[in-house]
Amino acid sequence: MIFETLSVFPDVFEPYLSASIMGRAQARGIFSFEAYDLRDWTHDRHRTVDDAPFGGGQGMLMKPAPLFEAIRDISTRGDVSPHVVFFSPCGRRYDESCARELAGYERILLVCGRYEGMDERAYTLADEVFSLGDYVLTGGELPALVVIDSVVRLLPGALGDERSAEDESFSDGLLEYAQYTRPADYDGLRVPDVLLSGDHAAVDAWRRESAIKRTALWRPDLLQGAGLSDEEWELARRVMDEAKNRTDEGSDADGKTKEAQH
Ligand SMILES: C[S@@+](CC[C@H](N)C(=O)[O-])C[C@H]1O[C@@H](n2cnc3c(N)ncnc32)[C@H](O)[C@@H]1O
Repeated sequence: MIFETLSVFPDVFEPYLSASIMGRAQARGIFSFEAYDLRDWTHDRHRTVDDAPFGGGQGMLMKPAPLFEAIRDISTRGDVSPHVVFFSPCGRRYDESCARELAGYERILLVCGRYEGMDERAYTLADEVFSLGDYVLTGGELPALVVIDSVVRLLPGALGDERSAEDESFSDGLLEYAQYTRPADYDGLRVPDVLLSGDHAAVDAWRRESAIKRTALWRPDLLQGAGLSDEEWELARRVMDEAKNRTDEGSDADGKTKEAQH
């Protein structure tokens, strides 16, 4: 798979993408990466990519010309046209299902905004626009790294162990179950006995229950699409009712965190 970025800060990507799992995945040829500098498609001495907004207002906007020229030029390179992704707080909310969709493309060009954003006409070049969440970042470089990381994890062989991505949060519509490692007793905080029992069926049942409880506490909006049985819905509702009662009684978020462990 080929990832490309178009940005005014092309140097920020490589340090992250050459480390750890991303670095190994690149070395194994699971994905390749190229960072383009938008200023390479400017024609003035100052390599200008921004200008003031019509109608006035704070800040500068990315000019249309360098974006159009760069995206058209990059798109004609190589055998396959890229799937062109823009970033904006006004875009579709990025989640694991978007990462799975993107994993199906051979080549993705991630276009990173800066300043107060882009001239609106540039968005006509986008195949899709993603928002990372309801907050404003300084630029699209972090969203681009988030997309690359979340997609590469899904590519065969990237994690080494194929099961790792299957078990994670959102893979079955639920948050991941609680996990523990040694020691079994840390300062009086004990790992649930069932996880030490060696009974795999009981461990699987405990993990499913833990995933449902955590999802009911932290992300009840996910439950509808998680294919719960009647019995599991009963458990989820009980957890949500208990959480609501605690909130009504004024308990804090820390209580919620502790509750979710078991
Ligand atoms: C300072 S932001 C522009 C914000 C814009 N003025 C607004 O209020 O929607 C500059 C760039 O950062 C990126 N960005 C900022 N927040 C983002 C978010 N939540 N999701 C995706 N991209 C974001 C976009 O590429 C955006 O063009």
